[in-house]
Amino acid sequence: MRTGVSARLPAARAVAGVATRGVNLDAALSEACAAADPGDAPTIRSLAYGAVRGYFRHEALLGAVCDRPARRLDPLVRALLSVACYELEDRRSPDYAIVDAAVETVRAAALGRSAGFVNAVLRRYLRERAAIDARIARDPAARHATPRWLAARLRADWPDRWESILAALDAQAPMWLRVDARRTTAARYLESLHASGLGGRLEPRVPFAVEADPPCDVARLPGFADGVASVQDLGAQCVVFPLDLRPGLRVLDACAAPGGKTALIAERQPALARLVALDVNAGRLERIQENLRRGGLTAQVLCGDASEPSGWWDGEPFDRILLDAPCSALGVIRRHPDIRLRKSPVDLEKLPLLQARLLRALWPLLAPGGRLVYATCTLVKAENHGVTADFLGSIADGDRVDPASWPGWPALGVGDARAGVQIFPGEAGADGFYYAALSKR
Ligand SMILES: C[S@@+](CC[C@H](N)C(=O)[O-])C[C@H]1O[C@@H](n2cnc3c(N)ncnc32)[C@H](O)[C@@H]1O
Repeated sequence: MRTGVSARLPAARAVAGVATRGVNLDAALSEACAAADPGDAPTIRSLAYGAVRGYFRHEALLGAVCDRPARRLDPLVRALLSVACYELEDRRSPDYAIVDAAVETVRAAALGRSAGFVNAVLRRYLRERAAIDARIARDPAARHATPRWLAARLRADWPDRWESILAALDAQAPMWLRVDARRTTAARYLESLHASGLGGRLEPRVPFAVEADPPCDVARLPGFADGVASVQDLGAQCVVFPLDLRPGLRVLDACAAPGGKTALIAERQPALARLVALDVNAGRLERIQENLRRGGLTAQVLCGDASEPSGWWDGEPFDRILLDAPCSALGVIRRHPDIRLRKSPVDLEKLPLLQARLLRALWPLLAPGGRLVYATCTLVKAENHGVTADFLGSIADGDRVDPASWPGWPALGVGDARAGVQIFPGEAGADGFYYAALSKR
């Protein structure tokens, strides 16, 4: 295959897979790279990520130069245009070479009838670039590559913050590590990073967190293979504060895969009486086991539906339940930019119903005096405050645990009067997370 085509075509196929089939980008990339030259894999990955990251900015750009809406284009042509737009933004190759390669790739994809169209669109953009870019720069949704419906939703929920949220979700994510406090401290681990020629910084408010800066391959991290350090976002690490873990407690992690929070719980409180990690997705249980094995940690790993405990619960109540609920994951878009292409307004309507069902099903498993922590990595009030406040209003034996009383809580985020705390993406370098703690009388 010609050099201009060998990486661009698989990259565009992966982007089209995300946009049309809703598969996640890493899965689409595995498919697309399977038939490609292994030497092209890093370029395919970087082109596909760049194209997906900018997809909705490119939609605005294409809207200015196409005679039909970008969403009506053949999906592969549309994806190829985003690959080319990303390359034009990235400016690593001359503009003319990028346009020529895009046209060559369209032909190689047997979409020759679109070659003239792609050529005309990209050349028109280059001619009118200054004016089009200026228009995009004035429009926060387009500038930060956010679909209109999502920008409108965030604006409705966070009228004073929506623009900074869009900007934070459009930024590069930092690499956060969690150190196993049984074996080291964050300060000592930072020294070992420096000794390995790597950079980093501490976040004093979360004493077991270290940022590896710049991000690096995990294979270069000292102690990674033995679980001395694990990759976990700062916002995710904050789950331990509302959980208030103590020796002898029986803990259920009800939506556990891939097990990042299970491992954190086991590390932070090695003297639990019981730790159960449950997930409905059998294929993801091995990931939990892997995470536990690497850190020399133990938990009982079960496959089951948290909304139907009769299928897996042995009747012994739990003192702590973590419901890290399936959610729209808008708070982690900077790590997984494909979320912008895969989620729809319909998902946002359905998710609170699922989240409420999970809460209702798990509450009876909590012992009196116990605590349930509801967590999501999203920013939509209906999935967060809405779900927890409605649930609290529907039960007679539950109370909100004031975030001010969570031991060690790093004072991140904004509290809501009825339930929990919203951490915004970018705050202290964290992803967007929501936590609420409910206690049982
Ligand atoms: C946000 S992820 C959990 C991330 C995990 N807690 C961690 O920190 O690594 C949500 C998980 O919920 C699981 N899930 C979805 N519906 C479920 C259900 N009804 N019962 C149990 N697990 C469920 C999904 O398979 C997915 O692994």
